[in-house]
Amino acid sequence: MQAPDLMHRLRLVAAVVNAAGQTALSRFRSRDFTVSAKGRQDLVSDVDRTTEASLRDSLTNAFPDTTFLGEEGGGTVGDLAWVVDPIDGTSNFVRGVPHWCLSVGLLHLGRPVLGVIHDPNLNETFTGVAGTGAWLNGDPIRVGSARPLSEATLGLGFNLKSDRARHAGLIGKLISHDCLYRFMGSGALGLAWAAAGRTDGFWEERIMPWDVAAGLAIAEAAGAQVSDYWSSDCWSRGNSVLVASQGLASAFADLTKA
Ligand code: 2AM
Ligand code: CA
Repeated sequence: MQAPDLMHRLRLVAAVVNAAGQTALSRFRSRDFTVSAKGRQDLVSDVDRTTEASLRDSLTNAFPDTTFLGEEGGGTVGDLAWVVDPIDGTSNFVRGVPHWCLSVGLLHLGRPVLGVIHDPNLNETFTGVAGTGAWLNGDPIRVGSARPLSEATLGLGFNLKSDRARHAGLIGKLISHDCLYRFMGSGALGLAWAAAGRTDGFWEERIMPWDVAAGLAIAEAAGAQVSDYWSSDCWSRGNSVLVASQGLASAFADLTKA
């Protein structure tokens, strides 16, 4: 995939995602949605499903050379594939917490090359193109600069598929180093915020491809050190993810070891 082709696609994708985000935001604000449970502490609303259907239609029509995989409706991953979480942070969404996003990644031969993460509540759109750059509402972003653990903040995610002891152990290790942490409830925004230097990194012990496809493209393009998420059976059971600013990557990698 050539960078000019990706940049051309990025403009169109960002417009599609922002429009879908406006519709989801008006449903969120009017509290006009129904909710069901996919599992314990794992919710889905009809806005998740309609947003995904609209993104599937728009993206596959605009780009006939692509396939589409969404969290709610499934699909296939071909050589060039959209991997989409229509609403990441659904538990925030259903509780009225204004911290959730739409996450759209493009994989080329199984690796993320383009990402769009749109936060309609703050009207923030994080974008990234492999080997080219990362932006917030069109302005370049970069991961945080080097600092000691005792001045750092790591974004964390947790869901009921995560290894509880490993998650709890990490929090113990972080606070023993005077390192702060944030748990905001959206893995995709956790990655985007690390890419923009709002935190020094993000870690989640078990997370699915649609949560990270866009964020990994953005974080890597913003200069983050990125773990090899795609190496094992991420599609069936999820994998752990770590992104970090260059100065803290090895320290965080040590602390997050099982
Ligand atoms: P979601 O909002 O799209 O469900 C929480 O840090 C992260 O874990 C969110 O990105 C959330 O995505 C995801 N998540 C929630 N429940 C999950 C589950 N049962 N399995 C895997 N990931 C989950
Ligand atoms: Ca979701």
